[in-house]
Amino acid sequence: MACVNPMSNHTPNVILDNDEIIVLQAQLGEWDNLNHLLICKKTKDAVIVDPFDGKYWHNICNNNGWKLRSAWLTHSHWDHTKGVEEAQQIGGEEFQIFIHQNEKQRGWDGPHTNLFTCNEMSFEQVTIGQLKFAAHCTPGHTPGHTTFIGHGLVLSGDCLFLGRCGRCDLFGGSEDKQRQTLRYLKRVLTTLESDVLVLPGHQYALKDGTLPTTMRVEELLLSNLAILAVDDDRAWSTLDFLAFDDSMAKKASRQRAKRS
Ligand SMILES: [Fe+2]
Repeated sequence: MACVNPMSNHTPNVILDNDEIIVLQAQLGEWDNLNHLLICKKTKDAVIVDPFDGKYWHNICNNNGWKLRSAWLTHSHWDHTKGVEEAQQIGGEEFQIFIHQNEKQRGWDGPHTNLFTCNEMSFEQVTIGQLKFAAHCTPGHTPGHTTFIGHGLVLSGDCLFLGRCGRCDLFGGSEDKQRQTLRYLKRVLTTLESDVLVLPGHQYALKDGTLPTTMRVEELLLSNLAILAVDDDRAWSTLDFLAFDDSMAKKASRQRAKRS
């Protein structure tokens, strides 16, 4: 494949390159965010999932003869949408931004051109070039969190990390919804081929200290602490990553008080 370095210190990794799709992954920013670029091999159309830096990804595409046509947002937290406005400015009027409408429940009013409207724990189709993905509404971390599945990939955002799940104590989050979502996702993931790759929204360490950025779905189903606990009330109650005692939790508490 073509050179991917756009004169940046952060060269993305090629996660997948087959007849249909190229997938690039880069860790950008100080919050360990993972960005994923999906390119349709046939049409050269590309979509960036959760852009941290719009210019960076346009440069990557320009240098490789790809056209960055849209952004798919897993959710509306700042660190997953930081680069979307710039991506739209550079991409022009044709640039499309997809996000689930339920993100408005947490007060989000950022740029968008297309809203997913599917019910919680269900999906609708989204395309880039000739590639079709299922956009699943997976609430819990945020009300309209979306997980994209297709072409050997699960882009799980902050719903499901490789070793655990995302926190549920931020404004708009819900532990009950997160548990329902994980039950739903577990069923969906079980139907996938064992070598499908899960690509999370952050590069967080596993319990053993390793820092993988991808994991086969088969391994995740056998090792993810949230997935393993989801059907067991006692195990679920011992999970220590559903909520944290930090400044973000305090901010969420103030936001909830303001709304009530
Ligand atoms: Fe998040």
